[in-house]
Amino acid sequence: MRKKVPDTMTDYNLLSRQLKAMASGESNTTGILANAAAILKKEGGWFWVGFYIVSDDTLLIGPFQGPPACMRIPFGKGVCGAAWEREETVLVPDVYLFPGHIACSSLSRSEIVVPVFVGGKVWGVLDIDSLDIDAFTSEDARGLELFCRTLSECLEG
Ligand code: SME
Repeated sequence: MRKKVPDTMTDYNLLSRQLKAMASGESNTTGILANAAAILKKEGGWFWVGFYIVSDDTLLIGPFQGPPACMRIPFGKGVCGAAWEREETVLVPDVYLFPGHIACSSLSRSEIVVPVFVGGKVWGVLDIDSLDIDAFTSEDARGLELFCRTLSECLEG
């Protein structure tokens, strides 16, 4: 199990500023999400980084970086659906211990899902999977929430 050490901690302030600069004046939602996933994947080095977007009672897969993944997740199902239903970040140290976890890859061992709000409602979720058990800390959760707030501002224009 690899643990992050201080000199390799992700600088979420910097990543949020990069996202804001990149999305400035841009109205192409797909492009913004694709680059947001790329920024996080490059810096965090996680197994899978991507977005699911709310459509009626389902999350539809959006831009991502990593292996192919499931296309649709119903409201309340899996880690992504739980984050949507609870309207809060869900951090799963060991996916085998999360009832109803949807295994897009058997290699994924821990996961964090952060809601993205637009107009005060959950618009989608950021989903990150790691090959390592217990890969995400509460600092990662706070940092990714900052990143998703910045993303919300970009999407709201
Ligand atoms: N594990 C997720 C499904 C999406 S994949 O991890 C990319 C879940 O339980 O919602």
